[in-house]
Amino acid sequence: MSDDSRPSPAAALTAAVIPAAGRGVRLGPGAPKALRALGGTPMLIHAVRAMAASRAVSLVIVVAPPDGTAEVKSLLDAYALPERTDFLVVSGGATRQESVKLGLDALPPEYAVVLVHDAARPLVPVDTVDAVIEAVRDGAPAVVPAVPLADTVKQVEPAAAPDDPEPVVATPDRSLLRAVQTPQGFDRATLIRAHETVTDAVTDDAGMVEQIGVRVVAVPGHEEAFKVTRPLDLVLAEAVLARRRLNDGF
Ligand code: C5P
Repeated sequence: MSDDSRPSPAAALTAAVIPAAGRGVRLGPGAPKALRALGGTPMLIHAVRAMAASRAVSLVIVVAPPDGTAEVKSLLDAYALPERTDFLVVSGGATRQESVKLGLDALPPEYAVVLVHDAARPLVPVDTVDAVIEAVRDGAPAVVPAVPLADTVKQVEPAAAPDDPEPVVATPDRSLLRAVQTPQGFDRATLIRAHETVTDAVTDDAGMVEQIGVRVVAVPGHEEAFKVTRPLDLVLAEAVLARRRLNDGF
């Protein structure tokens, strides 16, 4: 294929993969985390809407719990979603990494830009999604939304005995640290190569891209893109939704 026949980056089709197959054990007992309600709507539906809210995203691939694909399909049918976006549901794996890989396996060839977005970050604003897509379309192979840290971070080493305090071994310069969110955005070929190459356990997709020696860049994230992990995060998420409803009402 000659360079002339490739779509220009600005026109590159963009898909979002949403890994939603985790149990969410830290949130307490109950349904898989992505299927729990926030403001009466499943967290996953909020996350799907957050991706589909970007006019650049024309396909959303949801990676469902292996025993929950039928339920996820019927949820996507039951809730209003933009008509201009296509939706696919695939079955997930034992780890987040495997679930993302299974989502990428379902990605049609014409999509040149891919976002990976945790279902557990249901409230990411569309401006953040668009900023990530724009940076990839402008030529960055891997982009993460990131925010500065409020807390100072200490590196520790394991305690000598289970009840002993952990020795602190370092204090990294906080001004150079960032908390990384999703959606993370990638040039499709780069992300697929990373998933085919890296077998170590990682906690985010950009980490895999770093491991294959490709540069990752950070754009500003947003405080509302926080991950719903523990019970207190649900309280915060409900408060954010209530504030949005109030603002929309005026
Ligand atoms: O566990 P953690 O909060 O890091 O999960 C991040 C995202 O990865 C969640 O949206 C979760 O549903 C998803 N996940 C997955 N498959 C797994 C484990 C987690 O899709 N096996």
